[in-house]
Amino acid sequence: MITRRQANSGILASAALAAVPAFAATQKLKPIELPAPRAEGGMPLINALKLRHSTREFSDRPLPAQTLSDLLWAAFGINRPNGYRTAPCARYIIVIEIYVAMVDGVWIYEPKTHALLPHLAGDIRAETGVQNFVKTAPLNLVYVAHGERLMDDSPEERRLLASVDTGFIGQNVYLFCASEGLVTVFRGSVEYRKLKRTLKLPDQQFVTFAQTVGYPRA
Ligand SMILES: Cc1cc2nc3c(=O)[nH]c(=O)nc-3n(C[C@H](O)[C@H](O)[C@H](O)COP(=O)(O)O)c2cc1C
Repeated sequence: MITRRQANSGILASAALAAVPAFAATQKLKPIELPAPRAEGGMPLINALKLRHSTREFSDRPLPAQTLSDLLWAAFGINRPNGYRTAPCARYIIVIEIYVAMVDGVWIYEPKTHALLPHLAGDIRAETGVQNFVKTAPLNLVYVAHGERLMDDSPEERRLLASVDTGFIGQNVYLFCASEGLVTVFRGSVEYRKLKRTLKLPDQQFVTFAQTVGYPRA
């Protein structure tokens, strides 16, 4: 994680403060060091709850790096010294990872360093869902469960726990979007097997849901 001061003083490449896809214009995907998430702000909770809704029409405008940083922290960032997160998890076991699919590739959100780790080069947004808007919206979050962390549970229980954990993250994303003038929709209409193959997930890992985020279409 970098401090806002470092970012402002230009320690990061100038691209760091530009729109996010500029980070990864090359074939070989690079890690994205996100600016530090902002420590305060946003609209009052009641106002955000009043505005929360699903949208299925998105502009293709990319998210600025600071907005992506704040969004991922709100979604499932670390909010306490013990490493726990902005969303709860069953039995203290963190099973969900957020895969971030953007125009240039797929990254994995790493909350400890608040960075995006490169996963796959190339635009796989179309494969994150069956609805047309997923192809052009700037950001599709794919929620991936580490089933191997729940080995004492049956496959059904693993799916249930992972789905509930994902729902809390999804609601964080909804509220953040409501607060920031972004729009979003949580999605279960996903070709799960195909997306698992595309993301090259190991056997025990599986996609729970996906969620599209962007600016409203004008
Ligand atoms: C588990 C779950 C799965 C959903 N899957 C989809 C989906 O695949 N596509 C979609 O457009 N909306 C999906 N939604 C969004 C719902 O359609 C939406 O929340 C509902 O219509 C109520 O609208 P609101 O969110 O604006 O209140 C899903 C919501 C949930 C909770």
